[in-house]
Amino acid sequence: MMNIEQIKKQPIAVLYGGNSAERDVSLNSGKAIAQGLKQAGFTVHLIDTKEHPLTVLVDKNIKYAFIALHGRGGEDGAIQGALESLNITYTGSNVLGSALSMDKVRSKQIFKACGLPTAPFAVVKKNAFPQLDVAHLLAKLGGKVMVKPAREGSSIGMAMADTATKLHNALVEAFGFDGEILLEAWIDGPEYTVAILGEEALPVIHMQTPREFYDYEAKYQSTSTQYHCPCGLSVAQEEQIKTLSLQAFNATGASGWGRVDLMRNSQGEWQLLEVNTVPGMTETSLVPKAAKVHGLKFDELVERIVLLSVANNDV
Ligand SMILES: Nc1ncnc2c1ncn2[C@@H]1O[C@H](COP(=O)(O)OP(=O)(O)OP(=O)(O)O)[C@@H](O)[C@H]1O
Ligand SMILES: [Mg+2]
Repeated sequence: MMNIEQIKKQPIAVLYGGNSAERDVSLNSGKAIAQGLKQAGFTVHLIDTKEHPLTVLVDKNIKYAFIALHGRGGEDGAIQGALESLNITYTGSNVLGSALSMDKVRSKQIFKACGLPTAPFAVVKKNAFPQLDVAHLLAKLGGKVMVKPAREGSSIGMAMADTATKLHNALVEAFGFDGEILLEAWIDGPEYTVAILGEEALPVIHMQTPREFYDYEAKYQSTSTQYHCPCGLSVAQEEQIKTLSLQAFNATGASGWGRVDLMRNSQGEWQLLEVNTVPGMTETSLVPKAAKVHGLKFDELVERIVLLSVANNDV
């Protein structure tokens, strides 16, 4: 196996931008990752996949890629498969882990099958929408739901609905992003996120927003969002959600690095939301925040992610 000094002698591409709804977030993640890798001593090629086909990596004889693309096309297995066909080693989860984690419906089906806690849900497909009894579905899920496109990120296309009219409108909006929508029973409680690096869960972060939920504005624009790390849980509780997050991460076939989002309901039970296989990576994003508390600086974090991916690839 190559050591990190040998890998640093090879050029590495940071794939960023792309065509998804999370393009803007990815532009920021990619720039920060490229900067961190340069600081760690790598020779970096920053490549916007909207502008350049992946074959530029072959033309430039680049054998390593750091995937900094969020959302569909970058986080869902598509680019992972393309890179494999080109014999290029990439960071993070493989095709299966990426595809399953991107799909919130399949992820929840897997959580359930593995006995992992996740809130009650229903799935609405676009072609079944005209015949749907919206009020009945809402009542079945407890009268208040979160509406989520099955394969999006950054809270894009999401809305709370507690009346049939709101649910109808939220579905119309969400169908603009995906043909399959997840309706999840509303969870009334605090929310947490757990960064995963290799086989390890990093210190848990508790997010708090005065907004209705942790939406796009709370994530990227608002100054009123609070991040607590240490997260305020007891050591035993923190261990519990770290273990649960690792189980969820492994269940969807994710690997290398990522982030698991969860909430605690009013009965005090943990509820898994989702696994992110390419979470945000600006200097102020959640994974770098947790890494910092763990004692890893940003450039050390990106170096570790590359090393983990190369080790994974050698197995
Ligand atoms: N069932 C729920 N009840 C209440 N709030 C929820 C529920 N599901 C999600 N949320 C809120 O919406 C936010 C986004 O949800 P989720 O993590 O599922 O979507 P996402 O867009 O994929 O997020 P990310 O940016 O992490 O990729 C959560 O952080 C939480 O604040
Ligand atoms: Mg999330």
